[in-house]
Amino acid sequence: MAKKTIEDVNVEGKKVLVRVDFNVPLTEDGVVSDDKRIVAALPTIRYLLEHNAKVILCSHLGRPKGKVDPKYSLEPVGQRLAELLPDTRVWFATDTIGESAKAAIEDMKEGEIVLLENTRFHPEEEANDPAFAKALASMADLFVSDAFGTVHRAHASTAGVADYIPAVAGFLIGKELGVMGEALENPVRPFVAILGGAKVADKIGVIKNLLQKCDSLIIGGGMAYTFFKAMGYEIGTSLLDENSIDLAKELMTEARVRGVNLLLPVDTVVATEYAADAEHKTVPANAIPSGWMGLDIGEKSCELFRKTILQAKTVIWNGPMGVFEFPAFAEGTKKVAAACADCEGTTIIGGGDSASAVKKLGFADRMTHISTGGGASLEFLEGKTLPGVAVLNDK
Ligand code: 3PG
Repeated sequence: MAKKTIEDVNVEGKKVLVRVDFNVPLTEDGVVSDDKRIVAALPTIRYLLEHNAKVILCSHLGRPKGKVDPKYSLEPVGQRLAELLPDTRVWFATDTIGESAKAAIEDMKEGEIVLLENTRFHPEEEANDPAFAKALASMADLFVSDAFGTVHRAHASTAGVADYIPAVAGFLIGKELGVMGEALENPVRPFVAILGGAKVADKIGVIKNLLQKCDSLIIGGGMAYTFFKAMGYEIGTSLLDENSIDLAKELMTEARVRGVNLLLPVDTVVATEYAADAEHKTVPANAIPSGWMGLDIGEKSCELFRKTILQAKTVIWNGPMGVFEFPAFAEGTKKVAAACADCEGTTIIGGGDSASAVKKLGFADRMTHISTGGGASLEFLEGKTLPGVAVLNDK
């Protein structure tokens, strides 16, 4: 059932608690080094400010394990937010539900922002403790969930608060679920899914779900070697997910039964060791020499994948094709990113590594959508219920 959004409720003069995902990278000097997630939350924040709400923002940053740790303070995020909204007063509360938060909220005016300190400074946040959730909720009249990157977590500030005050979706949640939901439920075909990453086990749910929906499934990255092993190839010292060999066989059978075109690399770049400057060469997928490890897909695989990607009307990509952090083994990921950029259809990049790769390689502007959620987009692609969405009020 469709969920209520901020446009379905009256926010005028209301104290609105907005869960955002301001879990952003900081430099060693504590300066925000990538503000993409802050920028992604601005449409919701601006809408609320323009409609005279009192905007109370809360988020986690990092994994401080329930303890106050200045390294994970949201203060630098508040500074960046204030730079992005120069005409708006942004207050920073030095605690989450304590005196500082209460005083700032008491003093704030409509059209202003209070950013609360890191919710994960309290162990009750991740435990989804009802008393903590109630204390958070008691500071506001309405809850807006806009932290797409964190909706797969059933925490006090992402799910628990919705037990106490009305809860609706913000624009980022709407956009993420809209673009990815449409691609999964009603894709313009051909629909091509590209999956990479190290372990088959981490991607089983996604592979199974996408096999029911896509026309072609491209598999690259470290997990391709487990598929090679399942096909009887020797893989040298390449990454092997030993427990998933049978599963890889089952998935290949399922693809055949469903008529899905399953594409594995036909060649691979092998190296003598896992190192940026390792000696390397390209070999056919079924001829990996003993003692060598595959670290990227080869040129022929790139061409094969590119042809399929260019014909697609919908593409979803999650997971790099090789060890793209090392320039010598970044070519496969780069070529797949270039093919997605050249594809005229809808191109959706799951968050996490593939999003970083696309950005690092300079293709970000040429994709239809780059998700702000790593784990969250993966769980969405698996077809799982996202707790932070499930708790929102139905229309
Ligand atoms: C993310 O960066 O994926 C989200 O902010 C969630 O963070 P977490 O994995 O620490 O819950």
